Amino acid sequence: MNIRTRKTIRKYSSRPLDDELLDTLLQDAARTQTMGNLQLYSVVVTRSQEMKERLAPYHFNQPMVCQSQAVITVCADFRRTTDWCNCRQASPGYDNMLSFMNAATDALLYAQTFCNLAEEAGLGLCFLGTTLYMPQEIARLLQLPQLVFPVATLTIGWPDEEPLPTDRLPLEAFVHRETYSPYSEERIDQFYAEKEQLPENQRFVEVNGKQTLAQVYTDCRYTRADNESMSAKLLSTLLAQGFLSPPHLQSLFQQVIKESRPEVLECDVVRFQNNREKWVAFVGLYEGVPYEIFTGLMDDEVGIMVPKSVSKGYIIKHIGEDGSKRYDFQFQNKRGYKTTVEGLSSKFKPEYWNYAKLVSGVLRYRMPLQHVIRLVNSLELDGDQINSWKTGVARALKRYLPGNPAEEDA
Ligand SMILES: Cc1cc2nc3c(=O)[nH]c(=O)nc-3n(C[C@H](O)[C@H](O)[C@H](O)COP(=O)(O)O)c2cc1C
Repeated sequence: MNIRTRKTIRKYSSRPLDDELLDTLLQDAARTQTMGNLQLYSVVVTRSQEMKERLAPYHFNQPMVCQSQAVITVCADFRRTTDWCNCRQASPGYDNMLSFMNAATDALLYAQTFCNLAEEAGLGLCFLGTTLYMPQEIARLLQLPQLVFPVATLTIGWPDEEPLPTDRLPLEAFVHRETYSPYSEERIDQFYAEKEQLPENQRFVEVNGKQTLAQVYTDCRYTRADNESMSAKLLSTLLAQGFLSPPHLQSLFQQVIKESRPEVLECDVVRFQNNREKWVAFVGLYEGVPYEIFTGLMDDEVGIMVPKSVSKGYIIKHIGEDGSKRYDFQFQNKRGYKTTVEGLSSKFKPEYWNYAKLVSGVLRYRMPLQHVIRLVNSLELDGDQINSWKTGVARALKRYLPGNPAEEDA
C-alpha cells in the first residue's frame, strides 16, 4: 500500500476475511503507542450478519455496515484498567474528563494503526464517524459497561471498487512554521481553489442548490442544529458511561467558573468614541475571558489619567477594614514604572457602576458572550448618556467574540 494513493473503500467483495488474518492485524495494531503502556482501548468485533443489521441503523444505515466482512467498534476503555487497580489494592481515579480524552486518544491511535496494517494487507476499510452520533444506542447494543465509550467504527473487507484518490489541501494550508499564521481571505482562496474547482464538488453545490461548497457543509452535511443536538447526546452518553458524573461535572464547572474574584485580574483598556465623546472601558479578564467591565466617560476632571499608549494593566480589588470594596487600575508606563488609578468604580457615574455590576455578574458565570451582548443591547434605558454606556459596553465586549479583531481605539 502506498500512502499517496490510499483511499477509503466502501464496497467489498464476497471473499471471506480469514479469522486468523483479522486476529493478527488486531494483535499487531496493539504495537501502536499508548498512554503509560496501559492500552486504554477495547475492540468489539462484529462478524454475525444479525449483529451487523442491528448496528446498521445507528450508522444511518450506511450500506458498508451490512456489506462488510467485519465491523470493528473501537472503544475508549478505562474499565479494564480500573478493574485491574481495584483487584490490586490501588485506588483508580479515572472516571473523569481527562481520562476519557486519554482513552479516546489511545483508541483512535489503535484504530489508525489497524487501518494502516489492514490496508497494507490489501484490505479495504471505511472509518465511520457516525459512532459519535448515536454512542448510547451502540453502547447498549454492544453491552459496553461503564468507562467504555465507542469512539470509532471501521468496516472492513476485500475491495470491490477502485475509487480515485481524493484531493488534499496543499502543505502550506495546514503546516504553520514556528507560530500559527492566520488565514487571510487571499490565502483561503489560494488553498481551497483546487477543491472548489473539482467537477464533483461543483456538482455537489448545484445539486444542493447552494452558492458555495462551504455552504454544502454548513447547510447540508454538518449543520449547527445537528452538531448541537449530537453534542447533547454525546454529553449524556459520557454521563451514562461514567466518564462524567454529576458531582464531577459540578466540580469541573466550579473550577472553570471563578466564583470568588481573584485579587488581581489582567485588564484590557478599550477606548472608543460615542457621539463625539471619548469613552473608556476597563475589561477585567480571567484566563483571557471577560470577567468584569468598568465603563464610563473619559473625563480629565474626574481623573481617569491613562496615557494613550496603555492598552493593558491590572484591576486590583481592595477590601477595606470596614468591608468596603474598591477596584484600582494599575499599569506600567513605557519606562516600566507602575502607576495606580485608585477607585475605578467611584470615577464613573453610580448608575454605570450598578449596571456594570450586573453585567459582570453575568460574565462571571460564563453566559456566552453573544448572549451578554444581546442582553446589554436589549436593555431599555432612559437618557442619552446611559444609552452611550450601553453601546460602549456592547462594543467593548464584541472584540472578545471569536474571530472578531480588536476594534481600533478611537
Ligand atoms: C472522523 C471521520 C469520520 C468519517 N465518517 C465517515 C462516514 O460516516 N461514512 C463514510 O462513508 N466515510 C466516512 N469517513 C471517511 C471519509 O469520508 C474519507 O476519509 C474522506 O472523504 C477522504 O477520502 P479518502 O479516505 O478516500 O481519502 C470518515 C472519516 C473520518 C476520519
